[in-house]
Parts: sequence; C-alpha cells; structure tokens
Amino acid sequence: MGMLKKSLIVAVVGVVAWFAFSGKPPTIPHFDPEAWWGPNELKGKLDQSIRPFKVKFEESMIKDLKYRLKNHRPFNPPLEGVAFEYGFNTGQLDSWLTYWREKYNFTEREAFLNQFPHYKTYIQGLDLHFIRVKPEVPENVEVVPLLLLHGWPGSIRELYKAIPLLASHRPGYKFAFEVIAPSIPGFGFSQAAVRPGFGVPEMAVVYKNLMTRLGYDKFYIQGGDWGASIGDVMVTLYPDAVLGYHSNMILTQHSSANLWMLIGAFMPSLVVEDHLADRMYPLSKIFAVMMEEFGYMHLHATKPETVGVALTDSPAGLMAYTFQAFSCFTRPDHKHKVDGGLEYRFTKDDLLDVVMVYWSTNSISTAIRIYAESLGSRVKAFGLDEIPTPVPTWGLQSKYEAFYMAPSLLRYKFTNLINTTALDDGGHFMAFELPEIFTEDVYRAVQAFKEWHQKNK
Ligand SMILES: *[C@@H]1O[C@H](CO)[C@@H](O)[C@H](O)[C@H]1NC(C)=O
Ligand SMILES: *[C@@H]1O[C@H](CO)[C@@H](O)[C@H](O)[C@H]1NC(C)=O
Repeated sequence: MGMLKKSLIVAVVGVVAWFAFSGKPPTIPHFDPEAWWGPNELKGKLDQSIRPFKVKFEESMIKDLKYRLKNHRPFNPPLEGVAFEYGFNTGQLDSWLTYWREKYNFTEREAFLNQFPHYKTYIQGLDLHFIRVKPEVPENVEVVPLLLLHGWPGSIRELYKAIPLLASHRPGYKFAFEVIAPSIPGFGFSQAAVRPGFGVPEMAVVYKNLMTRLGYDKFYIQGGDWGASIGDVMVTLYPDAVLGYHSNMILTQHSSANLWMLIGAFMPSLVVEDHLADRMYPLSKIFAVMMEEFGYMHLHATKPETVGVALTDSPAGLMAYTFQAFSCFTRPDHKHKVDGGLEYRFTKDDLLDVVMVYWSTNSISTAIRIYAESLGSRVKAFGLDEIPTPVPTWGLQSKYEAFYMAPSLLRYKFTNLINTTALDDGGHFMAFELPEIFTEDVYRAVQAFKEWHQKNK
C-alpha cells in the first residue's frame, strides 16, 4: 500500500473519529466509598479490625465430598475419537475423581494453603479475605505495596507460586513487594454481596478501602482476568493512589481503540507490528474464539444462579467445568489432547486446590455472579472505558491469551503505557503457569514506573 493512500486513510479516519468522539470530556463518576453490600441490619455494627484467618477443611465437608465423589451417577462415555473438543472428556473423569478422593491429601493441602498469613476485615458490610506477605529485605531495599488481583476460575490459589517470588528481594532491584492479595468478594473466603449491583466498579471501591485500611494511600497493582478488569477501574477512579499498573490481560473498549481495531482489519500495519499482527487479525478468528470458548461467559452473565445449582451440587461437575477452562485458556489447541493438556504446566494438586477453594466455601455460584454484575449495560453506562488514565501502565501479553491488543490502541486508555512484553509463551494464567517470568516482568515494570515518576515529578 502506497504511503499516499495510507496517509489518506489515516486523515479521513482521524477526521471522522474527531467528530464522533470529541466534545464529550469524560468525567470520572463518583462511587460511594461507604456503599453497604452486607445485610442491612449489620450496618454500623461491624468492627474494622484486621483478624488473622486460617483456611479450614472441615471434617464434615471432606466426608460429604468423598461421598459425592464416590457415589456419582455413571458418566456417558465420550464420543469416539473426541478429546476435549466437546468439553471435558468424560473418559478422564474417573481417574481424577479417584485421585481427589484417595490421593489428594486434605490435611497437607490445607497446610499448603495456610503457608501465607491470611486475614479478614469487614469492608462496606462484607467480610473480605486477603493474604498479606511482607518481604524480608536488607536495609537499603525499599518495601513497596502491591495489590495482586486474581480472576475466574483461578481464585486466590492461582497466585500462590508468584506470591513468594514477588515478596522476595530480587537481585538487581532496590525494592521488593509487600503483597496484598484479596479474594474477590463472593470468591472462596471473601463474603458475597447480598443485593444486586455489586460489579467490577463496586469491587474496585472495596479494594481501595482495603488499601486505605492497611495504611496505604499509594500502591502498585497487578491483575489478570477479572483482576485486570478491577485494576482497569482502579486506575480510572483513583489515578492518584495507583503508582503503577501491571496487567497480564491488557485490553480496552475505548471507542477510539475499537474504531482503530476495525480499521486495522483492512490494514493491520496501521495499528500493529507485523510480527504480532496474527495475534489480532483476522477478526474472524477472534469471533470464532468468542463463539467457541466463551459460551460460559454468556451463561454467567445472564443466568449464573441456574448453572450455579449444578456446580454447587456436584464436585465432579465443578471440577470438569473448571478444568475445561484451565485447559483451553492455557493452550487453545489442548482441546485436541485427550487429557486436555491439564498437567502440561500444572500438577493435579495445583488444579484440585483451585476447585477446593470454591467447593470448601460453597462459593461457585456467588463467584460467577461477577459476570452478570459487570458485563451488562449498567456498568457500561458509567463510561469508564472512555476515561483515559495517566497511571503508568505495563502489559504482559502472553502468546496464548485469547485476545491481543496492540500498544497503539491501548494508549487511548492507558496514556502512559510504559511498555508491553509480547511473550512468545504462556497462556491466560500467567502467575500460575510461568510464575518466574511473570514475577520478573512485574519487577521490570515497577522499576520502569519508578523511573517514570522520577522524571515526571
Ligand atoms: C497426609 O499428609 C499428612 C502430613 O504430611 C500425613 O501425616 C498423612 O499421613 C497423609 N495422609 C495420607 C492419607 O497420606
Ligand atoms: C521495553 O521493552 C523492550 C523489549 O523488552 C526493551 O527493549 C525496552 O528497553 C523496554 N523499554 C523500557 C522503557 O523499559
């Protein structure tokens, strides 16, 4: 394509975009920092203390679980020659259920989950759970707070390999992280809201309050999956509080980014570097992935309670449902493996721990409400996508993340996008799959944020 033609397209699009999107200076909406999400009768009655907490696998829960694992109805055999293409391969179920019942050591796993200090504190009527790990550092090393945010179906457990790495002094860096990793309200050990309207923006408010409670008015954020969605809102609502933002699912729905994404479909070189173009285009490939792998999202976003019944009542069902997501979002082509490639980078205990976080707390249906509360028109109407944020930001873009967005588009939202790492490996669960690479990238990012703040004082 000739330079002239290119320039012409850019000029025309620029003018159209200017008319379409100018004149509406976005204002940051106000969210009530004291909105109450617990039972009304408890208003004003909950203390603000920070209480130590321990994960407990109750005997009665284990007994009931083992009974259910043993007494499941027969599963229909998989279709001939089919691996994970139709969902979790039922031919794989028995060995997993037997392992869970007989080999998964509940005592040991409970101790494993308790390896970090856990706490709970009441915020806006919700009993919020979090892990807090302070690093041990030499005197000249600064400790900086990092709010570390998980997603679904990962749970707090997907962060377990990264937490000790992040909270350790790393050679070559003059800082180390104090990690604060909350469970999203409704997920595992954090209490769910009792009334509708508690979505990603409202969660962002809760997390901001948590950091204030812990004494941090300035901090860094790392997020993936829903953690990234919540992080996006936090950097939008609280640009003065967030010192820097690292996301391993960096995307934006900013209308200019959407427009350029469409234009790029005709001329990718306008928006994305050549060697990364196939992560974004053709758009038909992206739509196909949406149709094939995101049915769960539509279900959670519309009727979470219904699927929640089945997942709450059957550990086999919960496991199959969760594992299928781990399989396809780690590597899309693992659907052609009979075992779903589940143990490619995770152990059996890694994955069953994640399921146990939901099962032992009976929280799968309250967790998946996040889709219904966040993906609808209610949240869209706040216009948060359109509000650019000045918070220095860094994206870790793994090769097999379902969606990729080029930095040129991300900059409409993240005006100070310091850098992106386009990794040639890894899937959706970076902290869980490649904790060392993940941690190094977070350290590099925060080093760059610090330099940016030095320069922009
Ligand atoms: C589970 O682990 C604990 C602690 O390591 C050990 O004492 C116990 O024997 C194990 N139980 C089984 C059934 O292997
Ligand atoms: C951004 O990342 C690239 C590739 O890793 C690297 O060469 C460059 O130095 C980075 N820039 C900054 C400001 O960190």
